[in-house]
Amino acid sequence: MRPQPDFIHEFVPGSSARTLLLLHGTGGNERDLIPLGQELDPNASLLSPRGKILENGMPRFFRRLAEGVFDLEDLRTRTNELADFVVTAAQRYEFDLKKVVAVGYSNGANIAASILLLRPETFAAAMLFRAMVPFVPETQPDLSSVRVLIGAGSIDPIVPASETEQLAELLRRAGADVTIRFFQGGHGLTQADVQAAQEWL
Ligand code: MLT
Repeated sequence: MRPQPDFIHEFVPGSSARTLLLLHGTGGNERDLIPLGQELDPNASLLSPRGKILENGMPRFFRRLAEGVFDLEDLRTRTNELADFVVTAAQRYEFDLKKVVAVGYSNGANIAASILLLRPETFAAAMLFRAMVPFVPETQPDLSSVRVLIGAGSIDPIVPASETEQLAELLRRAGADVTIRFFQGGHGLTQADVQAAQEWL
């Protein structure tokens, strides 16, 4: 018998080899980003897990001590758990592990960035919307074959522009091909993000 992925999740089979891993923000769930995934690539398969941590009833992918202050031990555990889930789901749904593109928003973008740093073989590419620096790794990952799009808000009250630049720098030092785009607006996703992501993909 095949191992079963142990996240509550949605899987939507597609007609191309690409799979988008959709990672919601705080308070979201596995259904939230399905329409975004379909808009970004109508042919891709979609894998959308629900974060297992509950903060006042709101699902998240890892614990935080305060806004923007992460529980680093929990982040490490949850990062490995989610990366393992992607591997298990690829066996179960028979999708190509080399063609997985992460699409993360806010908390989901932060765990996607954490997977890039800790398990760099997991994604072929990643779109990080309103992402922060999850942690600074002790050993440099090899991201030389990974493309990353960082979508930031010009007046995001949670993620200052300096942190966006810091994240880009961290990923570039690891060899990733990073594009940063700043959009008019705050922490919320805009239609301009979606359009830029479609063009970048
Ligand atoms: C986080 O905790 O990942 C960030 O503060 C973003 C958020 O979820 O609000």
